[in-house]
Amino acid sequence: MNKIPECLIHPISIKLIRAGHPWITADNFSNRFPRQSEFIIATDERKRPMALLLHDPHHKNVKARVWSTKYPFDREAQHFTASIQARLDLAIEKRTQEPALKERDNYYLAFGEADHLPGLFIIKLKDRILIQFFSSFWTRYKSIIQTTIQEIFPELKDDAFWFQLRGETRELQKLPTNAVEAQRRDEFHLQEFGLQYLVRLGSSYDHGLYTDMSSIRFQLKKFITPGMAVLNLFSYTGAFSLWAMNLGAKQVTSVDLSPKYIEWLQQNLALNPQIDSTQHEALTMSVEEALDKLKTEEKKFDFIICDPPSSSSDGDKRVSALKAYKDLILKMDKVLNIKGHLVLFLNTHQISNQKFEKMIQDSLSELQLNYKLGMRLSLGQDCPTLKAFPEGSYLKGIVLEKL
Ligand SMILES: C[S@@+](CC[C@H](N)C(=O)[O-])C[C@H]1O[C@@H](n2cnc3c(N)ncnc32)[C@H](O)[C@@H]1O
Repeated sequence: MNKIPECLIHPISIKLIRAGHPWITADNFSNRFPRQSEFIIATDERKRPMALLLHDPHHKNVKARVWSTKYPFDREAQHFTASIQARLDLAIEKRTQEPALKERDNYYLAFGEADHLPGLFIIKLKDRILIQFFSSFWTRYKSIIQTTIQEIFPELKDDAFWFQLRGETRELQKLPTNAVEAQRRDEFHLQEFGLQYLVRLGSSYDHGLYTDMSSIRFQLKKFITPGMAVLNLFSYTGAFSLWAMNLGAKQVTSVDLSPKYIEWLQQNLALNPQIDSTQHEALTMSVEEALDKLKTEEKKFDFIICDPPSSSSDGDKRVSALKAYKDLILKMDKVLNIKGHLVLFLNTHQISNQKFEKMIQDSLSELQLNYKLGMRLSLGQDCPTLKAFPEGSYLKGIVLEKL
C-alpha cells in the first residue's frame, strides 16, 4: 500500500472529530486533500495524526468520513478489508437478534455512521439487498460488502444484490442497479406489520417503502383506534394509510401530488384484501388544495399524518417544509376533531429537534391554537443515531393533541 498522505484539517474539524463527529466537510483544508488518495490521515494543529479518513473528493459537501481514531493509522488502513467485514458482522448481528425486526421483511442491516460504516447504508428488502452509498468511496468495495453479507445469508445469490449511489447533488443520485444485470428491473412484494407492499427496484430512485419510517409506524400504533378517520398528507405510496386501515381506521384519506405514487398506493391496497378499500379515498392534488377541499366538504379527522419533503414544490416556488408548516397547521386544525392528534414530521438534519419543536410551538401560539405535546418521534430500532452526529438524526416528528 502507498504511503497515506497526512493532511492538516480545519481547526473546527479537529474539535468535531475529538467530540466524535465523523464528517470532514468542504473547506480550504479538505479541498486540498490529494485527490487520488482513497485514505487520508488527518493531523491536528501540532501535526499529530488523529484520524484515518475515507476520502471522497467527488462529494460536494462531505469530503471525508472518519474510519478510525485508533493509532497507528497505516495499520488500520492495511486491515481495512477485515475491519469492513467485522463492522458489517456486528451491525447485522444486532439486527438479527432484535425481536421487533421479525415483524417486517424490510429493515436496515447497516445504518452508516451510527454503525461505524460511514456513508454505507444497507437495507434488507425481503430476499433482496439494497446497498446505498452516500459516499462514492465505497464503490471500490462492492464485492467485499456483498460477499460478507452472503456469508451471513448464504441463501442470497448474486442477483439479489442492488447498488445505489445516493446524495444531495444530481450526479450522486442514481437508480439502484442490479449486481448481475445492470438493466434489470425488479418488482416484488414484501411484508411490513402484516401488510404487503409493492417494491420496485431499478426503475425509480426510491423503491416504494421508507424503511427508516417503519419503527415510527410501530411507535404510533397506540394512537390508532378502531373507527377513527385518518388523513395521510404527502402519502407517497400509502404506507401510513394501509397501516392505519389495518389497525381499524374506518375512513382513510391519502393526499399526494404525484399520480404515479397514488397509483402505486392503489396497487398496495389491492395487495391487501383484508383491507376494505371502499373506506379509502385518494386525492391526487397538492396538500394545500386538498385541505381547502376537505374543509369545504366539512370533513373531520381524528388523526392527521403530515410528512412533507424537506422542500416542497408548490407551483413555481420552493418552500422549506418548516416555513410551510404554519399555514398547514392552520388548515389541518380546521379539519381535526377536538382530542384528535396531529403528527408532524420534518425530514432534514439542518434543523434540530429542539428548534423544530420550538418553531411549531411558536406557530401554534401565533395562531392561538391550543395543543398539547403527546410524543416525540425519532429514528429507532434498526436506524440508530449518534449523539455527536446530529446530521444522522435527520428524521424528527412530534405528536400533538388538540385540546
Ligand atoms: C417524504 S415523502 C412522504 C413519505 C410517506 N409519508 C411514507 O412514509 O411513505 C413526500 C411525498 O410528498 C409528495 N409531495 C410533495 N409536494 C407535495 C405537495 N405540495 N402536495 C402533495 N404532495 C406532495 C411527493 O410526491 C412524495 O410522495
